[in-house]
Amino acid sequence: MEKFAFIIHPLDLEDVGRKFGPLKYLPAPIMEGILRMLPAFKVSQITGIRSNAGAEAEGWFVGCPLTAKQMVSLPESVVIPKIIKTAQLGADLGAKIVGLGAFTSVVGDGGVTVSQNVPIAVTTGNSYTVYTALEGVRFAARLLELELERAHVAVIGATGSIGSACARVLAADVKYMTLVGRNPNKLQRVSEHILTESGIACKVSTDANRAISDADIVITVTSAVGGVVDARALKPGAIVCDVARPRDISRQVAETRDDVLVFEGGVVQVPGNPNFNFNFGFPEGTSYACMAETMLLALEGKYENFSLGKELSLERVMEIGRLAQKHGFKLAGLRSFERALDESQILSLRDRLVRKTVVGLA
Ligand SMILES: NC(=O)c1ccc[n+]([C@@H]2O[C@H](COP(=O)([O-])OP(=O)(O)OC[C@H]3O[C@@H](n4cnc5c(N)ncnc54)[C@H](OP(=O)(O)O)[C@@H]3O)[C@@H](O)[C@H]2O)c1
Repeated sequence: MEKFAFIIHPLDLEDVGRKFGPLKYLPAPIMEGILRMLPAFKVSQITGIRSNAGAEAEGWFVGCPLTAKQMVSLPESVVIPKIIKTAQLGADLGAKIVGLGAFTSVVGDGGVTVSQNVPIAVTTGNSYTVYTALEGVRFAARLLELELERAHVAVIGATGSIGSACARVLAADVKYMTLVGRNPNKLQRVSEHILTESGIACKVSTDANRAISDADIVITVTSAVGGVVDARALKPGAIVCDVARPRDISRQVAETRDDVLVFEGGVVQVPGNPNFNFNFGFPEGTSYACMAETMLLALEGKYENFSLGKELSLERVMEIGRLAQKHGFKLAGLRSFERALDESQILSLRDRLVRKTVVGLA
């Protein structure tokens, strides 16, 4: 039996209230103070993961009690040791690899320091997150009959680990791409990298809303704590893959724009009869891609630091895609704001868009 652990943490204080009921009545600063003092803890045992190739794995969710906002605002000297202790708890439970969930892979150096301070392998899960986000984009584009080669793609958070890898992979299939971020120098570096690698000259922008106004496909994957995209700015018919947790696109989009397709990146069907013994808001048997990467590496017995640091290897993105196929992990359709989107809903969006175009022309 292969063994892994995966670090989770509350995204916000509402999550804390759901897990530790009585705390929700306390003022936010007191709740945050309590979280800082809480030690890492075992959240649940994960059982029933069985690869199509025969291997079995079990694991644990281990909790790092800090919210996303605390992770980015407290000094790294507070946050990183807490992540290391949580990873060490995974090792003590018997895991041979630990995955860094949500902001535990965003803060600091993308897991490098953590990996140097625990006796087991570490992965951020970002390679499989990139792979599945792009699988979702390709699937949605096929259903909406949008040719990637003609599409204008905007990647928001393009200077980050996941965003830059998404842009680099997509550069093989698209001609028009805008890289969006906050720092023009960093954007320029990613753009030059893509030009050398794929021969595509990307535009760069620090204005997300302007960049998406004529984008057919938007991949948004920032580590912002609040939404960064104004729904009103999206082009009608746009396909939007929101990989960020917390989300970059607010629920308001679903309520105000029935002419765009917004889905969550990285929702994966796990093979076997998985029981996470913890509700993170997904249907039974499905997980985030970053969790799935950790399970995959355990099933493969590949106990090595796989996705680490801020620049992903595209070879590893493809390798984890191959491993997913081998072990029976696959994209779990598309989900939008806690609901599954079936093909008929996507096709009806396509029909509505076609009708609007025809009416517009008449
Ligand atoms: N769905 C999944 O399975 C999954 C898996 C892993 C991670 N994630 C999520 O993916 C997101 C990104 O992760 P990552 O590892 O790629 O992070 P990262 O390497 O730190 O990159 C974050 C990107 O967001 C940008 N950014 C940060 N704050 C911003 C703000 N306030 N406004 C606009 N842009 C901002 C950064 O720009 P600068 O360069 O200017 O800092 C950078 O481009 C996180 O939300 C994480 O929780 C999801």
